[in-house]
Amino acid sequence: MILAIGSDHAGFSLKQEIITALQQENHQLIDCGTYSSQSVDYPDIAEKVAHKVLEENILGILICGTGIGISIAANKIRGIRAALCHDPYSAAMAREHNDANIIAIGSRVSGSGIALAMIKTFINTKFQGGRHQLRIEKIGSLEIKCQEGSQASGLY
Ligand code: RB5
Repeated sequence: MILAIGSDHAGFSLKQEIITALQQENHQLIDCGTYSSQSVDYPDIAEKVAHKVLEENILGILICGTGIGISIAANKIRGIRAALCHDPYSAAMAREHNDANIIAIGSRVSGSGIALAMIKTFINTKFQGGRHQLRIEKIGSLEIKCQEGSQASGLY
């Protein structure tokens, strides 16, 4: 499988471990950075991975210290559904119910064993569709509403 991956400095060493482990299982990783433990800003990495995910129609992996900042940033991009996960059950549900296209992980929260288990579950689980499809479409409608500024109160 082809996957996009990226992290900030806090997630750099976990990213390298994950790349090695997934390559050993014959996955192809598009490494969107960062490429050292020097400090970078997670929104820049979120944008790069999100771009690849949308352009190539593939799944993505994002890592920062908590997974929070990088998932918030990725979710600002239209078409991205980034799920911050801490356990394999959530990783499975993120695909089955939410059709998430990015899994976000906190390197200071999850160890490499659980991170890898979550990623494997995430990439091997399919979207269930059915009753979940309409809800995904409603998320898409929110994106369009925000872009057009068409909400009645004018708040967003
Ligand atoms: C970097 O120190 C840290 O703030 C970042 O990796 C992330 O945890 C933000 O949400």
